[in-house]
Amino acid sequence: MLVLGIETSCDETGIALYHNKQGLLSHALYSQIRMHSEYGGVVPELASRDHIRRVLPLIKQVLTTAKLNLKDLDAIAYTQGPGLAGALLVGASIANALSFSLKIPAIGIHHLEGHLLSAMLSTHAPIFPFVALLVSGGHTQLMEVRGLGLYKLLGETLDDAAGEAFDKTAKLLGLGYPGGPALSELADTFYKFNKIERFKLPRPMLHSGDLNFSFSGLKTAVLTLAHKHELTQQTKAEIAFAFQKAMVDVLTEKSLAALAQTGLTQLVVAGGVGANRQLRNNLDYRAEKIRAVVFYPEFKFCTDNGAMIALAGLMRLQKLGIQNKPLKYSFTATPRWDLEML
Ligand code: KG4
Ligand code: ZN
Repeated sequence: MLVLGIETSCDETGIALYHNKQGLLSHALYSQIRMHSEYGGVVPELASRDHIRRVLPLIKQVLTTAKLNLKDLDAIAYTQGPGLAGALLVGASIANALSFSLKIPAIGIHHLEGHLLSAMLSTHAPIFPFVALLVSGGHTQLMEVRGLGLYKLLGETLDDAAGEAFDKTAKLLGLGYPGGPALSELADTFYKFNKIERFKLPRPMLHSGDLNFSFSGLKTAVLTLAHKHELTQQTKAEIAFAFQKAMVDVLTEKSLAALAQTGLTQLVVAGGVGANRQLRNNLDYRAEKIRAVVFYPEFKFCTDNGAMIALAGLMRLQKLGIQNKPLKYSFTATPRWDLEML
């Protein structure tokens, strides 16, 4: 079965072809980051308009790369939500128009389910059940994943998402958007300047006894530091280092606590912040000590992409039986959508 995946939930147009036997055949991504960076964040209307421009050329591109045609497709998977309403509607309408004309099913996928399953695109892939740490620009959640669609929320952020905290802190330090990668690079320069940790930031909710997170206090602590000190390159590197360390500590401790609570030994880290090298190093180091294994998507599939949507679509259609997926001529986008409702 050959599935075309379409991701347009935010500021990346991701298109991919995934085959049940041959795996990922091709994928393409257009990032709108440069367009939005001028505004310091995503402008929803600009995002929708740009998705319209990109989706069809990228579909042509992935088909050409794989030496295939539209008529070779068996199904189309698209991100139905959560995300920006207008951006989601672009992917949903193109997917359903193609479905109508090719007479093949279109299936709406939950964006976070795509992230949850993205580590399964790797050769070193987890098998159900596992704990998933979802850390993106909009979400921070620990989920118990027993199988496809069997998701139990263990804990989540009470305020800012992990990626959002990275982005806001980066903005405070005068770095561009999105801030996560830039802040992480700046933190890596810490050892060039100094080996003494001048700043220690709080680890919010580290000992709360549950698996919830809170990052807004950390952001405020950074703001206080930034106001107190002259922001030289060295001070910025020191603040970035302290911030990243606090984030990594909290994410690591809570993930290990989730493994202990569920009795599971596999942890999957997904979402943009999962690309953070310090987080990966720390998790690997700590997990090894308790004989747990941590799985990550390849770097290119940590952030939004079409491959994870195509894979999730294939897995859902296999579970449902593609013949049982009726062709229908109405569709919807679901900007707010709870993963546990699946
Ligand atoms: O999953 P994603 O691409 O989009 C959402 O669904 O939100 O995640 C984007 C987020 C941004 O906040 C970005 O700053 C963060 O992931 N991010 C990182 C890194 N790479 C991306 N945060 C920390 N370290 C990184 N290396
Ligand atoms: Zn995402």
